[in-house]
Amino acid sequence: MYWSRPLIETIAVDLPGREYEVRIGPGLLADAGTHIAPFLNRPKVTVITDSTVAAEHLEALGAGLSAQGIAMTALELPPGEATKSWAALEQCCSWLLDQEVERRDIVVALGGGVIGDLAGFAAAILRRGVRFVQMPTSLLAQVDSSVGGKTGINVGQGKNLIGAFHQPALVLADTEVLGTLAPRDFLAGYGEVVKYGLLGDAAFFDWLEEQGPALAAGDMSARIAAVRRSVEMKAEIVMRDETEQGDRALLNLGHTFCHALETATGYSDRLLHGEGVAIGCALAFELSARLGLCAQEDPSRVRAHLKAMGMKTDLRDIEGDLPSAEALLALMGQDKKVMDGKLHFVLARGIGQAFVTSDVSADTVLGLLDDALCDR
Ligand code: GLY
Repeated sequence: MYWSRPLIETIAVDLPGREYEVRIGPGLLADAGTHIAPFLNRPKVTVITDSTVAAEHLEALGAGLSAQGIAMTALELPPGEATKSWAALEQCCSWLLDQEVERRDIVVALGGGVIGDLAGFAAAILRRGVRFVQMPTSLLAQVDSSVGGKTGINVGQGKNLIGAFHQPALVLADTEVLGTLAPRDFLAGYGEVVKYGLLGDAAFFDWLEEQGPALAAGDMSARIAAVRRSVEMKAEIVMRDETEQGDRALLNLGHTFCHALETATGYSDRLLHGEGVAIGCALAFELSARLGLCAQEDPSRVRAHLKAMGMKTDLRDIEGDLPSAEALLALMGQDKKVMDGKLHFVLARGIGQAFVTSDVSADTVLGLLDDALCDR
């Protein structure tokens, strides 16, 4: 029979003893039972999700599982970053124990980055570790947070400060669900996609410049290709450096600026994480150009693409007041990428050529931020 749907793409994350696949394509939610059944010791799964995602996708997942005779129970948490908390972690663990989840069972994380990080962390500590399947429903989660095993919660002292590396047993990235995202959320996730081109694959960035508009408009082949290349790049980096002793820090391109801006805007609707990453990437390239590391044209090209996509690009695109350059620099100093009191930046020698350095003077960063703020 002729199968008209695009094929499911598979990326292997070959971490010895913890290897898994990321499967990417449309229809994975409806086919979840087929994909998950081989991992089960008994035909039931527990699902952790949020109420927004549940309203859109939980029924479809339940149908996909029951088609293979798999029963499902689900815990629906409130949507939003506040759910990555001690209280929600306790709720997840208690609920999973009440569901009599055993070590050989599978917990499914159905949602964006918040749910993936929280459910993954609950799975990491429940009974000293149960297996879990990531079913990321946001573009950001599909290209970044569902792959690589970082799990955790936020605490008063900062974001993601309590957590564990716990690799999933399988990642199912259903590209059809991206069609249910609000355009702003989709574009925020696209900030992380652009990041991959900028950090390590100039040809991918060229391709995004061409295909980005079609991809945002809903072109499924372009969406699959973009998620596939992003996941492939992330998997390569995670396989080289699972616990971020070196190369994995490249994935933080744009993030030192982003975290300062997110803190300054109170992690609110004023700036979504992926929007901060996009602005942060533009600033990282501007900084690289000022330091003579890359051509002057490179930051202009980065900004031109972000603008063409209708994304936040500059500090002026953030509504409301921002603190002074000095205050933003101080916020960068609180980032967890500070080591031995030095700020670590991911800079670039060109598009696709990022590297990590601590060799940046505070004065240069201050000058950059001053100019960016004056432009507002
Ligand atoms: N999101 C960055 C990482 O997974 O290392």
